[in-house]
Amino acid sequence: MLMGNTTCRRMGGAGFAAAFLLSSALAASAQEEVTFTRDVAPILQQRCQTCHRTGQMAPMSLVTYDEVRPWARAIRSNVAERSMPPWHIDKTIGIQEFDNDISLSEAEIDTVLRWVDAGAPRGNPADMPPPIDWPSDEIWRLEERYGRPPDLVVSSPPWTQAAEGQDQWWQPMVETGLTEDRWATGIEIRPTVEARRVTHHSNVYLQQEEEPGDHVSVVDVTPRGSYFSEFAIGKIGDVFRENTGKLVKAGSRFTFDNHYHSVGEEVTAQTDVGVWFYPRGVVPKYRVYGQAMGARQSQRDMDLPPGVETVHHAYIPLPAPARLENYQPHMHIRGKAMTMEAIYPDGRVEMLNHVAEFDFNWHVNYVYTDDSAPVLPRGTVIKLTAWHDNTESNRNNPDPRQWVGWGQRSYDDMYHAHVNVTYLTEEDYEQIVAERRARQSDNQQ
Ligand code: HEC
Repeated sequence: MLMGNTTCRRMGGAGFAAAFLLSSALAASAQEEVTFTRDVAPILQQRCQTCHRTGQMAPMSLVTYDEVRPWARAIRSNVAERSMPPWHIDKTIGIQEFDNDISLSEAEIDTVLRWVDAGAPRGNPADMPPPIDWPSDEIWRLEERYGRPPDLVVSSPPWTQAAEGQDQWWQPMVETGLTEDRWATGIEIRPTVEARRVTHHSNVYLQQEEEPGDHVSVVDVTPRGSYFSEFAIGKIGDVFRENTGKLVKAGSRFTFDNHYHSVGEEVTAQTDVGVWFYPRGVVPKYRVYGQAMGARQSQRDMDLPPGVETVHHAYIPLPAPARLENYQPHMHIRGKAMTMEAIYPDGRVEMLNHVAEFDFNWHVNYVYTDDSAPVLPRGTVIKLTAWHDNTESNRNNPDPRQWVGWGQRSYDDMYHAHVNVTYLTEEDYEQIVAERRARQSDNQQ
C-alpha cells in the first residue's frame, strides 16, 4: 500500500485513521464501478423522464448520456436533498405507502451520488437499456381501463403563456352541461400536448348546490367549489375505489386552477377534464367528498405578521366513520410545512403525515393505497398544523415587510388540505378495521 509503516508511525493516530480511510475507499472503488449505462440510466428512465424529456414540463431532457452529463453536479445536489423528484413528505414519520410514490429509494440515491462522485462515467454502451416507449400524449390513459372514451369532456378556454415572465394561475369557470345527476367512477385531467410543456399542475373544482341532507359539509373554498380532481406530479386524475364515486349534479360547473410557467416561447394551453360515469341509475354506496379541510378556519384566523414565522391549527371533526383517500397540503408562497394528525375519540393522537419542505411550486398530492388509507371512527378530529415563514430567510418571500392575510392571489396566503373523504357506515367501518387487524396479526406471525 501507499503508506508504509514508518510514515504511519511518524504520523501517530491520525496516520492510522488516514490509512484506514484510504484503504476502505480503495476497497469500495474496487467493488464495482457505477456507470451511466448500467446503473444510472434505468433510474432516470423510471424516476425522471416522465418530466425530463423533450416536450414535457422539465427544463431539460435527461435521456442520453450527452444530455445528462452536463447536469451531473445539479443532479447530485437535487437528489441528495430529495428536492428531485418532487416528493416532500417526511420519510421518518407517519404513513409511507402511497399509490403514486415517485421518490427515490436510499439505494437509488446512493447509486446516483456514487456515480457523480466517480466522475460520472459513461460505462459500456452495450449496457444501455432500450429507451422507454412513452404512451402518446394524445390518448386518454384511463380509456383502456374503462373500455371507452370519457362520457363527458369539458375543456378550459385556451390561455396563451408568454415566452418569458412570471408564473400564471388561470382560473376560468366552465359549465359541465349536465342536465341530470350522474356519479363519476373515474376522472382524468389532461392538458393538451402543447399545454404539457407549460402546465405545472391543473386543479379542477366542482361547483354545485349541496342539499342539507348531503351528509356533511362539503367545504367550499368560496367561490371555487369543492375539489374535484387534478393533473399534478405523479397523478393524472382519480379512479374511485369499488362502490365509491363523486356526485356531479345537473347544472354543475367546473372551475380550473391551471398553474402555467414560461418556457422561452409562447405556448397556447388548454386542459381537458374527462369523466367516466357509473351507468345511469347506478348509485354507488359511498359518495367521495372533496374537502378543503381547514379552509374555513384559515379564512377566519390566518394572520401572518411581517418578519416572523407563524403556526396555525385547524380542527375538523368527522361526523361519521371515514376513510381519508389522500393528503394534499395547500398553502401559498409563504407556506413552509403542514402536518395532518388524527385525534381519536379516546384521546389518542396519531401522526398521519407531515410535509416538512412545502414548496408552492409543487402541489404534490399524496394518494394512499387501499391498505394505507387511514380509516377513522366517528368523532375523530383531524388536526392540521400549518407553518408559514414570512421572514426574509424564506427565499420565495417577495416582501417580508408585508402583513399577509387570507386571499386567493399567490401573494396572499391560506392553508388547508385537499382530502378526498369517504364516509362509511358503522358496519363497514368495523369490518375494515377487523380485516386490517387480521392481516396485521398474520404478518406478525
Ligand atoms: C414531476 C416532474 C419531474 C420529475 C419526476 C423530475 N423532475 Fe427534475 N425538474 C422538473 C421541473 C419542472 C424542473 C424545473 C425547476 C423546478 O420547478 O424545480 C426540474 C428541475 C430539475 C433540476 C434543476 C435544474 C436547474 O435548472 O438547476 C434537476 C437537476 C433535476 N430536475 C433533476 C431531476 C432528476 C435527476 C429527476 C429524477 C431522479 C427528476 N429531476 C425528476 C420536473 C421533474
